[in-house]
Amino acid sequence: SGSGLPLMVQRTLAKQVTLYDCIGKGRYGEVWRGSWYADSVAVKIFFSRDEASWRRETEIYSTVLLRHDNILAYIGSDMTSRGSCTQLWLITHFHPLGSLHEYLSRTTLTRHQMMVIVLSTVNGLLHLHTQIHGTQGKPAIAHRDIKTKNILVKINGECCIADLGLALTQAHISAQQHHCTRQGTKRYMSPEMLDQSMNPLCLESYLRCDVYALALVVWEVCRRVSPASPPALPYHPLVPQDPSFDDMRKIVAVEQVRPDPPHSDHPTMLGMANLMRECWHQNPSVRLPALRIKKTLLKLAAHDNS
Ligand code: ADE
Repeated sequence: SGSGLPLMVQRTLAKQVTLYDCIGKGRYGEVWRGSWYADSVAVKIFFSRDEASWRRETEIYSTVLLRHDNILAYIGSDMTSRGSCTQLWLITHFHPLGSLHEYLSRTTLTRHQMMVIVLSTVNGLLHLHTQIHGTQGKPAIAHRDIKTKNILVKINGECCIADLGLALTQAHISAQQHHCTRQGTKRYMSPEMLDQSMNPLCLESYLRCDVYALALVVWEVCRRVSPASPPALPYHPLVPQDPSFDDMRKIVAVEQVRPDPPHSDHPTMLGMANLMRECWHQNPSVRLPALRIKKTLLKLAAHDNS
């Protein structure tokens, strides 16, 4: 069949799904709300020029058992021919609160809500980054496009990580399958990506880029803790709306600027500010690994008594 999908799955899933309304549009394509039997689902419809992302996300979800509360749950993929064009669908659980980016733009947070958001996101990233041995195991996976638009907010206040279209394992690197046309989001690119000093053949390099991007996400979340600052993307006054690689390189790699951490003198927020600094450090080898970030957050949460 060429798509690498079992033929039956590929030909039947789309026919069982009813689409209701478009809930997102971007460079990737569109996301629709729909239903699949009793389940509310989200259907991501890829532009055919981004077939590589659909293929990678489908491959990761079907070869690795990625069932985790903090990773968007996969239902299936579908490839259908409509006349001359190919439709590429990715069907997942639907989360009515939408992306963390949208959520932060309309809501302020308590420190407790902030902690639930950050801890659950880190839990999802830790699961991706961790190699698990055995028959139910998984390789270490780098996400490569961590940002608030790729994190969804669940009804219970926890988050889950979405969009595995750029995800990478050591096996992909060894098979030279890491040179896709799509790149991560420039605004969230680490200094070593921007000055091209990282080792592209080592998975660890990409895990450290995820941690840098996570630090920017933590900064966006902490801004919204009451008394909140207005919602903002990282480096918002310093670079234009759709920054170029060179705009970002000048600020992040050459000038080594980072966002202003929260001004609060509350011990939890001071702890969050220190965590950000350790995670967006210029030197990738001193950034905290996901497990260390989780342990630091658990300590901060345990000492916050209000
Ligand atoms: N936006 C993108 N993916 C989504 C999903 N799975 N649920 C809700 N909103 C989304």
